[in-house]
Amino acid sequence: MSTIRAKILGTGSALPTKVLSNKDFEHMVDTTDEWIVTRTGIRERRIAEPEEATSDYVARACERALEAAGVPASEVEMILCATVTPDMMFPATANLVQDAIGAKNAASFDLSAACSGFLYGMSLGASLIESGRYRYVLVAAGDLLSRITDYEDRSTCVLFGDGAGAVLLGPATPGETAGLLSFSLGSDGSGGKYLQMPGGGSRRPATHESVDERLHFLKMQGSETFKFAVNAMVDSTEKVLGQLGMTNEDIDLLVPHQANIRIIDAASRRFGLRSEQVAVTIHKYGNTSASSIPIALDEAVREGRAKAGDLVVLVGFGGGLTWGSVAIRL
Ligand code: ACO
Repeated sequence: MSTIRAKILGTGSALPTKVLSNKDFEHMVDTTDEWIVTRTGIRERRIAEPEEATSDYVARACERALEAAGVPASEVEMILCATVTPDMMFPATANLVQDAIGAKNAASFDLSAACSGFLYGMSLGASLIESGRYRYVLVAAGDLLSRITDYEDRSTCVLFGDGAGAVLLGPATPGETAGLLSFSLGSDGSGGKYLQMPGGGSRRPATHESVDERLHFLKMQGSETFKFAVNAMVDSTEKVLGQLGMTNEDIDLLVPHQANIRIIDAASRRFGLRSEQVAVTIHKYGNTSASSIPIALDEAVREGRAKAGDLVVLVGFGGGLTWGSVAIRL
């Protein structure tokens, strides 16, 4: 076990200013504000401008995390970016961010674990620091899900939004309590069919037919994903706390993936958490994929709901299927 522990030095997030409300959807597909609010908890979501791309938001979130930490971009040694909507197939979005923020001494790469991507990134980033080989690691997540959302499919289009979040990780001072205490990750590729974007990869490259078949949009089997989600959130949280000899009673703040308020409520009820112990942004941003957790964390930190000394559990699930949780002492 390493004697070096990684901790969060700063958080940041970035969201588009353009709002797409539930009322707007009433003119686009056969739905109602009432259905969307009661079935998902979402009231509105943010949508990027046509000329923007994921790296624009990730770069802004990273700059804010660096500013909060008081660390210049030139000292960052690694940038990890979780995304399923990169600017393009390659170069990686992390490479574009590295240039945009002037992190001239950083290596950079993307990781693909859908909505769990930020948790995978945190675990990997912390391990790099614990290895002693890296000092400052930016872990970011960003997605413009509006780019792969089928606005003719009412069962998915109301769910998703755009945004990015980031944290700067660095080594804790020996003896201090703050740090990333443990993590737990999992995957089950047999569930890939429940949540996927089939077109544009090597199996179904872009053709006129693939576009006509709408294969370049996200496809989701909602109720199968829902059932998996609640169990994954509960099991993963229990696992990460169990590794520390802790229980749900030790949680000060739960920061869950923001996919559906009913999933968040079900998990919170299982842990007996009060509403102020759960970070919720879904009503205003919808599901922003991997960035939903760092956005919610950043807001909680900036609003003073997550404070030094708190035990914070980040937990999520997503396409793959993938899931994970991270326990942090702030
Ligand atoms: N407006 C009105 N009616 C709708 C809408 C809509 N926008 N969407 C679906 N319906 C209808 C359906 O057609 C269905 O009608 P029917 O009974 O006549 O067939 C009815 O509502 C119920 O549909 P369900 O799919 O059973 O509704 P459910 O309560 O399960 O809610 C939802 C659907 C919101 C998608 C839910 O299943 C869910 O949140 N699933 C999990 C999503 C998730 O967690 N995704 C993972 C992360 S995403 C990522 O990784 C990028």
